Amino acid sequence: MIRLAIIGAGSMAGEHAKHFGRIEGVEIVAVCDMDLAKARDFAGRYGIADVYDDLEAMLAREDIQAVSNVTPDGVHKLTSLAAIAAGKHILCEKPLATNAQDAREMAQAAQAANVINMVNFSYRDAPAIQHARALITAGAIGQVRHVDASYRQSWLVSHAWGRWDQDSQWLWRLSEAHGSKGVLGDVGVHIVDFASFPVGDITRVNCELTCFEKAPDNRIGDYQLDANDTALMRVTFANGAKGTLQATRWATGHHNSLTLSVHGDKGAIRVDLDTSRDEVQVCLDDDVHPARWSTVKAPPTASIYQRFVESMRSGVNDQPDFARGAAIQAVLDACVVSSQEDRSLAIAG
Ligand SMILES: NC(=O)c1ccc[n+]([C@@H]2O[C@H](COP(=O)([O-])OP(=O)(O)OC[C@H]3O[C@@H](n4cnc5c(N)ncnc54)[C@H](O)[C@@H]3O)[C@@H](O)[C@H]2O)c1
Repeated sequence: MIRLAIIGAGSMAGEHAKHFGRIEGVEIVAVCDMDLAKARDFAGRYGIADVYDDLEAMLAREDIQAVSNVTPDGVHKLTSLAAIAAGKHILCEKPLATNAQDAREMAQAAQAANVINMVNFSYRDAPAIQHARALITAGAIGQVRHVDASYRQSWLVSHAWGRWDQDSQWLWRLSEAHGSKGVLGDVGVHIVDFASFPVGDITRVNCELTCFEKAPDNRIGDYQLDANDTALMRVTFANGAKGTLQATRWATGHHNSLTLSVHGDKGAIRVDLDTSRDEVQVCLDDDVHPARWSTVKAPPTASIYQRFVESMRSGVNDQPDFARGAAIQAVLDACVVSSQEDRSLAIAG
């Protein structure tokens, strides 16, 4: 039996509880939130025995082997380092940290402590993206030349996910002082992984980040709304391919849409998670000249929660690990500098 604890009892933690709760041989034994009432409510909903508002006290328990860190971005480093120091295996939410230096420290600490470490780039759980990577790696589309990828959300316009101007779970995401790197850190991190996982590392970036006016003086209560809400990236991949990646919270008409098109000199692949999580569109071979597309079913993929548990059982750390989280963070750091200085930047290794 693997005994696991959750840190942070907010909205995403529910996904972790549901997924881990379904895995045989895993028991969620404790939850910690700085807001004890939230932890109690969460524990009640998911049948978790023990609640804490003192992380060190929870981490001191020797029967707990692993933690899922679902705190806000700005506290991932502090809370993850505490868990690693206590010898716990760790699945941490994305973005791993708020800058590459912190993310590298976390990766080094996890490696030195010899604990399983993974970052929740959750869209890798879609069979479609795994299959797109397999096809591209096998050379099905030839040399990749052009990539375009978008992550479109609309919660600054649509109330489908709640009221961004009234709820702390949205307000912290709009405020740099609350540890947010804006849409770039929140979901830009996903689209950078979603494009570079199948295509290869990004080596150069030119990025424009924009923060639109949303409230009088761009402030609501304690929250200065200064974090970017639209990110436009022009990138070069290690294989020489060029691409545009974008992330926005202003995509009226979309709730949460990820798309990726990869064009090579022999064919092309499209992934659109709104259309299907387990199918890819391909244009290959004889279909290239008439530009005809067909649908291919992708084989099933284990979720990150299952892969994390399997990593603990086998002792072999699956991907995406903290080192990958740090590598993606380096792309985000370059995006910030690129936007501030209005120039292209090579990604620091
Ligand atoms: N992988 C994905 O697809 C995905 C989706 C949504 C959110 N996320 C990530 O999950 C994380 C949490 O997001 P959320 O929407 O659940 O936020 P949230 O604001 O709803 O919840 C965060 C919780 O953490 C608690 N908390 C804050 N500091 C703490 C600390 N030091 N110790 C213990 N608890 C603490 C808060 O009280 C709150 O209950 C973020 O990093 C976010 O980027 C990932």
